[in-house]
Amino acid sequence: MNAGSYIDKNRVLRFAQWHARASGKAPAPPSNALGHLGQMQNDQLGFFLRAREQCGDVARFRFILLPVHLLAHPEHVRRVLVDEHRNYDKQTKGFNVLRLVLGNGLLTAEGELWRRQRRIAQPAFHRERIAAFGERMVLAAEDTVRSWIPIAERSGTIDIASEMMRLTLRIAGETLLSTDVTGDAASVGQAVSLLLTEANVRILHPIEVPLNIPTPHNRRVLSALSTLESVVRKMIEERRKMTGQRPNDLLTMLMEARDEETGESMTDQQLRDEVLTIFLAGHETTANALAWTFYLLSLHPGVARRVEKEIVDVLGNRLPEVGDVNKLVYTTAVLKESMRLYPPAWIIGRRAVNDDVVDGYEIPADSIVFASPWVTHRHPGFWQNPEGFDPDRFLPERAATIHRTAYFPFGAGPRICIGQGFAMIEAVLLLATLCRKFRIDLVPGHPVVPQPSITLRPRYGIKARPILHT
Ligand code: HEM
Repeated sequence: MNAGSYIDKNRVLRFAQWHARASGKAPAPPSNALGHLGQMQNDQLGFFLRAREQCGDVARFRFILLPVHLLAHPEHVRRVLVDEHRNYDKQTKGFNVLRLVLGNGLLTAEGELWRRQRRIAQPAFHRERIAAFGERMVLAAEDTVRSWIPIAERSGTIDIASEMMRLTLRIAGETLLSTDVTGDAASVGQAVSLLLTEANVRILHPIEVPLNIPTPHNRRVLSALSTLESVVRKMIEERRKMTGQRPNDLLTMLMEARDEETGESMTDQQLRDEVLTIFLAGHETTANALAWTFYLLSLHPGVARRVEKEIVDVLGNRLPEVGDVNKLVYTTAVLKESMRLYPPAWIIGRRAVNDDVVDGYEIPADSIVFASPWVTHRHPGFWQNPEGFDPDRFLPERAATIHRTAYFPFGAGPRICIGQGFAMIEAVLLLATLCRKFRIDLVPGHPVVPQPSITLRPRYGIKARPILHT
């Protein structure tokens, strides 16, 4: 594109914004009678990026009659998630669909219930507690290393996405809930995939068939839900039967918590919702972050070599431990850059409780706003060469210049991810343990396509060959 056409495009955009501001309504991409739903259904990720290009920092869409705004500027993200968070709640279609699965756990609860549950769970995520999990994380990764060696020796292939799901699922079970879920990994994996895809279908379809109507599709959804519920119920029942000292973990904390005022413990339903939430939120996102990181490392062998060199420099010939995480500076930067380009939680929705005005545009009460890491992490006003994979952006001096809410893979404000510290330690330790032994080569011809369901997953997995370092 030459400079002239760029100026022209900017001029057109400025005129559209001026015109829109005068009307109080943000600019909207072209649409049809159903609004923008069709375009969203075809290509959500591209649609959001184009909307920012075409409309600027505030873009207005319509899902049939419901107005929706995409807020791309970091200051707008901050307004919704941090400064004015009381005016933006989770009564959105997306969270309602999640509530069908997770009930009212930490991720979906609101108000006093959320505050109380967060207070109860918070101590389980303190740094020292998480540090104590480091060894289990590395031991689990070592098992994965052992299982890949014969595959590497016969030049076989793996699906890195499902390998990472299995590994992080096992770690979430062992560390937070002291339960061995390795036997359930395959059925849990299938159930999670089906439910996340279903959640997205429901979000994007104007007409929902209630779950209690026994269509073949609903039956599959209910069966996936009952798979997850039975794993969670088993965990809770086994813990209840336990005599003597209970493990000092999140499950015990949740079960022993008492309401400060009434002294009551959590109901079975609340306990089920919390455990299911942690179980799901605690493994799926981290697995995707790792899968995308291996994908990018394979595409950028120079970066992969720098990671391997750092691992040798820091660890020598031993396994990593929690104390190494702060020293693995480049490896951490690679993970952060990978979550910039492929943020596992790629979109965060909220409902405006009362009317608001953002950048001069009306946000009506009851309408939906989206803050999207996928979009803001590529905002050309805040990122040079936004599509370029450049982990050096996250090395300390350069990272200090990044706008606080230009990068928010874990959200922001009071609802920020409770598992952020856990996820970063886990991801760095797993990456170091696996990259110590292997490089990952993508299998030519296998399509790697980001699928924007509730989380950003590789639609067809990521087929790869583990190659042992010589
Ligand atoms: C790379 C990994 C992860 C990413 C990218 C991620 C991302 C996020 C984001 C963006 C939110 C905020 C959602 C919103 O504002 O609507 C969130 C919330 C949450 N995450 Fe994570 N997460 C990750 C790992 C984890 C882990 C390991 C756990 C648990 C062990 C966890 C548990 C939760 C919970 C319970 C919430 C709800 C917190 C609240 O509202 O109080 N996440 N996560």
